[in-house]
Amino acid sequence: MSKVLSAVAWPYANGPRHLGHVAGFGVPSDVFSRYMRMAGHDVLMVSGSDEHGTPILVLADKEGVSPQDLVDRNHALVAHELADLGCSYDLYTRTTTANHAATVQAMFEQCRANGYFIEQVQKVALDPRTGRTLPDRYIEGTCPICGYEEARGDQCDNCGNQLEPDELKDPRSKIDGATPQFGETPHFFLDLPAVAGALRAYLEGREATGAWRPNVIRFSLNILDDIRPRAMTRDIDWGVPLPGELGQQYPGKRFYVWFDAVIGYLSASIEWARRLGDDERWREWWNDPQALSYYFMGKDNITFHSQIWPAELLAYAGRGDHGGTPGAFGELNLPTEVVSSEFLTMEGQQFSSSRGRVIPVRHVLERYGPDPLRYFICAAGPENQDADFTWADFVQRNNSELVAGWGNLVNRTAAMVAKNVGEIPAPVALEAIDEAVLARVQEAFDEVGGLIERHRQKAALAAAMRAVGEVNKYVTDTEPFRLKGEDQRDRLLTVLHTLVQCVSDLNTVLAPFLPHAANRVHAVLGGQGQLVPMPRVDEVTDLDSARPYEVITGDYSATPRWERRPVVPGTPIAKPTPVFVKLDDAVVEEELTRMAGTAG
Ligand code: MF3
Ligand code: ZN
Repeated sequence: MSKVLSAVAWPYANGPRHLGHVAGFGVPSDVFSRYMRMAGHDVLMVSGSDEHGTPILVLADKEGVSPQDLVDRNHALVAHELADLGCSYDLYTRTTTANHAATVQAMFEQCRANGYFIEQVQKVALDPRTGRTLPDRYIEGTCPICGYEEARGDQCDNCGNQLEPDELKDPRSKIDGATPQFGETPHFFLDLPAVAGALRAYLEGREATGAWRPNVIRFSLNILDDIRPRAMTRDIDWGVPLPGELGQQYPGKRFYVWFDAVIGYLSASIEWARRLGDDERWREWWNDPQALSYYFMGKDNITFHSQIWPAELLAYAGRGDHGGTPGAFGELNLPTEVVSSEFLTMEGQQFSSSRGRVIPVRHVLERYGPDPLRYFICAAGPENQDADFTWADFVQRNNSELVAGWGNLVNRTAAMVAKNVGEIPAPVALEAIDEAVLARVQEAFDEVGGLIERHRQKAALAAAMRAVGEVNKYVTDTEPFRLKGEDQRDRLLTVLHTLVQCVSDLNTVLAPFLPHAANRVHAVLGGQGQLVPMPRVDEVTDLDSARPYEVITGDYSATPRWERRPVVPGTPIAKPTPVFVKLDDAVVEEELTRMAGTAG
């Protein structure tokens, strides 16, 4: 049994989520966390809304609302979407809490006391029209390294290098196309070169485990070659202010959103413990070197999780060229694994909120329910290569795999038991074919569990569905629907018992992927209550101010174990209602038309 931190990327609170967001980290992190709990580990799953940064400010300006009002609204929307998708966070909070600000400031102070912050004058880009600082990512130009013409002021998406805005050739504002003016202001730079040696040692140690996806570890090691100090403050009035006197000296500066956001994993863990009334409890996941931590994200987040965040942790602990000691948080664990997915495109096009060709999570949840979406993402999502969502594929997988495969097995098993017995029968005499199918299904636990543990969810789900196929074949082979005679009664009871046991086992194996369906199948098999715990949204008040907000949380202690539970003969089984719904082919046309209509 291990302590396992599931650290899930924090979605920007800039609007409702679309499928691209939840396919990259939302669903995969939940499948992993649910499985790890079932396997007996002590999981702490945290995340929250990423509410600071310039995009939020720009959007709020555009809508004529305060940034706080904007994120209040979007945080609530996103929290409900993720909860309705079944994401079992121990705490899903936000970056505008007082607890988060205090954690960020404490991290900064210790890193600075240890000598890892350099105060340095930086060129800043100013919008010539408003005189306001133009944020890095709102400047576009030609990459000085690879010549890509649409590089951003902070990063080139073509060659992956980090950039400073004044390095771009032909810089222009993405907001109005104006050529930015460059001025000067002091900023706090994280001395990344001073931790580069420690970072390399850490990453090479991770590489040696062979656990990270090859492209993720390769990319992480590559970007070490061109490491330099990076400004962790910005001239902006939305974000976490500098602590104490520095805050008074520099009232117009805030922490860079990425310095602040990654610290969310720690601050959310602390908030979780405080809400439990056991303030130091988070340390079990952060200070114990045996504890494991898995970070889930899309590939555009790798730099921040395999370089910036470990660098912050190393600087905080004084584990770089300047030496130093940890502050009150103690020696904090570096990520065990950065689990990064690729991108999801849609009907061949990259998701883009600006172009309007998006599929909102809310729409799919309301129309099709959470599990068909979770199924699609796990079976065909961007796990280790870019993937494409098409409505035709969605409908096809729902109908031929969920409905005709798993749903049909559940349905006919329960229907035959209801009609012939009315309760789960005891077996009379198991034959070789019964033993074989039971053994086959038993194997699925190890096979599927092992794959989920190694973040191979696509293969894991495929393995589970192969086992479903084998049990469907068992029905074809044993033909229980033909066992009508009195002299065949014993055989019928035995086959039905075997089937119920297989369905119950497969339901356990599929539960991390399809938790809502798992609870319904559990009820179909005569089970009481819920098989797997679900998250809930709670209204809470900020621990250090009276501000109310919503969090996702849950009590997952009743999670069933990852093992066969013998079904109980005598349990009543009624005529079932189908767990999955077949979708009409017309859905494809309808959805494509709807999308074309909303495209701007
Ligand atoms: N908001 C960022 C994004 O959507 C992710 C932040 S992950 C965090 O790309 F850990 F830094 F919060
Ligand atoms: Zn480039």
